[in-house]
Amino acid sequence: MSSATAPGKIILFGEHAVVYGYPALAIPVLQVGVTVSIEVNPPDASTKLHITKTSGWKDRITITAPAIGRFGTLASFPSSHRPDPIALVIENVLNTIEIADPPPLDIHITSTIPVASGLGSGASVSVALVRAIAATLGKKITDEQVNLIAYEAEKVHHGTPSGLDNTVITYARPVYFIKDTPIQTFSVGAPFTLVIADSGVSAATRRSVGDVRKLWLADSNRVETIFSSIAYIVDQAHKFIQNGEWPALGPLLDQNHQLLQQLTVSSPILDRLTTAALASGALGAKLSGGGRGGNMIALVSPEIASSVADALRSAGARQTIIATVI
Ligand code: MEV
Repeated sequence: MSSATAPGKIILFGEHAVVYGYPALAIPVLQVGVTVSIEVNPPDASTKLHITKTSGWKDRITITAPAIGRFGTLASFPSSHRPDPIALVIENVLNTIEIADPPPLDIHITSTIPVASGLGSGASVSVALVRAIAATLGKKITDEQVNLIAYEAEKVHHGTPSGLDNTVITYARPVYFIKDTPIQTFSVGAPFTLVIADSGVSAATRRSVGDVRKLWLADSNRVETIFSSIAYIVDQAHKFIQNGEWPALGPLLDQNHQLLQQLTVSSPILDRLTTAALASGALGAKLSGGGRGGNMIALVSPEIASSVADALRSAGARQTIIATVI
C-alpha cells in the first residue's frame, strides 16, 4: 500500500485578475487536504472486478472517493469529450511515467476539503493522485510534471484556469503567481494569522470565471482597470508579507474585496461574513477563490482569532479554520 497527500490552498490576493495575466498571491492550507492510498493487486481483485481474459487495464483500476462522489472502475469513467478529471489524471500520469499496462490498482481517495469552496479540492485530488500512482509503481515524477498533469485536470474543472491552484498545491509553498511564467515561491517575513470561513454555499468556479469573462467582453476598459488595481494590491501585499509587515495587509484585503464585488463575484453571505469579521476586530477581510460562495478570509491578531471565528459562525459560516501563515 502506498499513499500521498496534498494540502488545500487559499488565495490571499488577486483571484480572477490572475486568469488575465495579472499577479496573485496564494498559500497552502495544511489543516485540510487529500490523501490517496493505493493497493496494488488487491487480493480480491478478480472477484470484485469480474476480470476476464479480455478485460482491459482500465477494468482493473477501481476508484473509491466518497468525499467527491466517485466510485467505479476507471473504464466506467468518461474519458473523451469532457473527460472525468480523475480519469484524465490517471491516464496522464501513466503516460508520463511510461506505464502502458498497469497492474490492478485499488485507489482510495479521502478528503477534508469541502468541494467547490475555494480551497482547491480538485487540484489537491489531482496532485495527491499523481504522486500516489507514481510512488505505487516505483517511478519518479518531478514537481513540474505533477503540476502539468494537475493543470490539465483543472482545465476540465474550470474551463480557463490560471494554473494558480495546481501550482500552490504542487509546491506547497506560498506562491507569487503570474500565468505562464516560471514559478516564484516567497518567504513570509513574520507569521500572521487568518481565520478562514466557509460560507456553506458551494459555487462553481467555472461559472464565476465565465461571468467575469462576460463583463470583460462587454467593457474591457473598465474591467482591465479593476484588474490593474488588484495587481497593485497584490504587489504591495507581496512586499508587506516578505517584510513581516502583516498588519498592513488589512486595508489591502478590504480593497481587494471591494474590487471583487465590482466584478460581481461576491454574494450576500460573503459580504455578511466580511462585515462580521471586521465588526469583531479583524484587520481586513475578503472572499477567497472563485467567489459567489465558498470561503472568505479574515486577517486577525492571534489573540482574537477564536473570537473572530465564533463571530463568523454566528453570522452563518458553516466551518472556520484558524491558519497561521509561516
Ligand atoms: C480559483 O481558485 C481562482 C480563480 O482566479 C480562477 C483561476 O485562477 O483559475 C477565480
